[in-house]
Amino acid sequence: MDQAVMQEPNLNAPPHVRHQRLIAWVADIAALCKPDAVYWCDGSDAEYQRLCQQLVDAGTFIKLSDSKRPNSFLAHSDPDDVARVEDRTYICSANKDDAGPTNNWTDPDEMRATLQPLFDGSMRGRTMYVVPFSMGPLGSPIAHIGVELSDSPYVAVNMKIMTRMGKAVFDVLGTDGDFVPCVHTVGAPLADGEEDVKWPCNKTKYIVHYPETREIWSFGSGYGGNALLGKKCFALRIASNMGRDEGWLAEHMLILGVTNPQGKKYHVAAAFPSACGKTNFSMLVPPSGFDGWEVTTIGDDIAWIKPSADGRLRAINPEAGYFGVAPGTNMLTNPNCMRSLSRDTIFTNVALTDDGDVWWEGMEHDAPGQALPAHLIDWQGKDWTPEIAKAQGKDGKLKLAAHANSRFTVAATNNPALDAAWDDPKGVAIDAFIFGGRRSTTVPLVTEARNWVEGVYMAATMGSETTAAATSAAGVVRRDPFAMLPFAGYNMSDYFQHWLDLGDKLAKSGATLPKIYTTNWFRKGADGKFVWPGYGENMRVLKWTIDRIEGTAHGTEHATGVIPAYEDQHWTGLDFSAEQFKTVTSMDKAAWQAELKLHEELFSQLAFHMPQALIDNKAKLAERLAA
Ligand code: OXD
Ligand code: MN
Repeated sequence: MDQAVMQEPNLNAPPHVRHQRLIAWVADIAALCKPDAVYWCDGSDAEYQRLCQQLVDAGTFIKLSDSKRPNSFLAHSDPDDVARVEDRTYICSANKDDAGPTNNWTDPDEMRATLQPLFDGSMRGRTMYVVPFSMGPLGSPIAHIGVELSDSPYVAVNMKIMTRMGKAVFDVLGTDGDFVPCVHTVGAPLADGEEDVKWPCNKTKYIVHYPETREIWSFGSGYGGNALLGKKCFALRIASNMGRDEGWLAEHMLILGVTNPQGKKYHVAAAFPSACGKTNFSMLVPPSGFDGWEVTTIGDDIAWIKPSADGRLRAINPEAGYFGVAPGTNMLTNPNCMRSLSRDTIFTNVALTDDGDVWWEGMEHDAPGQALPAHLIDWQGKDWTPEIAKAQGKDGKLKLAAHANSRFTVAATNNPALDAAWDDPKGVAIDAFIFGGRRSTTVPLVTEARNWVEGVYMAATMGSETTAAATSAAGVVRRDPFAMLPFAGYNMSDYFQHWLDLGDKLAKSGATLPKIYTTNWFRKGADGKFVWPGYGENMRVLKWTIDRIEGTAHGTEHATGVIPAYEDQHWTGLDFSAEQFKTVTSMDKAAWQAELKLHEELFSQLAFHMPQALIDNKAKLAERLAA
């Protein structure tokens, strides 16, 4: 046998894989990355348990106490691999203008030439997992298929929770179905006999998308958003390109069902920037004073939305699980989430308790007397006690036991508030869109757009204070149009135009367009504290939006849109004064003049292809603010 053939691992394609193009692609990637073995995932529970045990044996996973947290695991990552790396994320379209000024761009040929030597031999000493997955219910007209080749068993088990992963995907693919090819390596080849580390990764990282050929290549990171390629890379960056070409939307949105006491059900899709409470809002428990209201979860992060034959926009959650931020989650902020996490969960970068359970900042609110644990192993594997945390903390704050972007991965089916239609291949009809920023000033609690164009303008000019979900500095206000700044896979101005075109098309077909709202739960008072109680109390805002659709709630026209007055809101069960309400809804003219300047900056950054309708809307807003 010649050397080249000897070096190739046995592909072992199972007999149920009948897709020759797929098999040939797997062979090509194996020849490039040179793994020791190729393993085709079947998605079974037995396989999941086997791989988890393998991760325990390798030291990547710690098995949590079966009495405290059955069937659950904890991973601590490399301290330099804890979040999405936006500055290493590329949209390599043939034309630079198609990526637009908000994306990193490199010529696709140049990028391929850069990546070739990095991927060459990158999987040496490892197994390459073939992970077939469906984004959305298998066979749904709104769903699409991907196949991820990864040398990370951590990725394989997370993909089992986050997507419909396994054998059945090959039946849907048949002999020639379309799939998005996704290649992922941790970029840490092993020399013969070299011992592996617990969390292999590479200092060099590349998260690369080729929109025209719908390919994803990810190098050097094992962290969720960079490595679970079905999520941000496929379901947002590549899918937004598919949506533009095919007339649908791929959005950074939760989807929830809300049923009023009369039994009438509405569906709302809501976009918030990363780590701004999408998971909490999607699992909201109506507070006291809301007897008979019910909120159910369809999705917590991503929505794929397609116009249906009746002119309505129908949405699915392409994911099958939640990869959510742990810190801040507790029985007060999100009881349904806490119940979901009681078993069958993979935790990443939270702290470990002495009795084999997990802990993160915020959990003290669930402990008797709000006590901090006496001792933990922190996310970097070091001893943590309140005393150590005090001594090592900065700015008077305790050193964190869990990383600020630590995560849980859990199946949607663990959620007690899961909507009965969450898995419906037809999706659910959307009645309203909500866009929520994180702003301590300026933007009112809730505003209704008077029409589709004004709604698109509001979403396009959303600003938000940054969070720990990405590796850039936290707490700085940046424009985050549609909460899609890190996720739009093509030129942002063209993306605005796509939303406007879709609205036009639906209106022409005689359909009732969903209403559009912006919200801001994060206004602060003079004392620097949040004024609005948030969490379950956000139900009050949600009710107002539903009542507006029903035509039963009042609102007042302002320069930016329609805002409820104190007496337009339902206050039973909450002690919240008119004065406090004023703090979260007031429209400060000077602040809005300054805000308009920031809109102007965004418009000049995005001037190429900026839709005229949005330029006109801005002019109207300026006039109203000047009046
Ligand atoms: C996420 C994110 O992980 O937006 O959902 O960063
Ligand atoms: Mn997200």
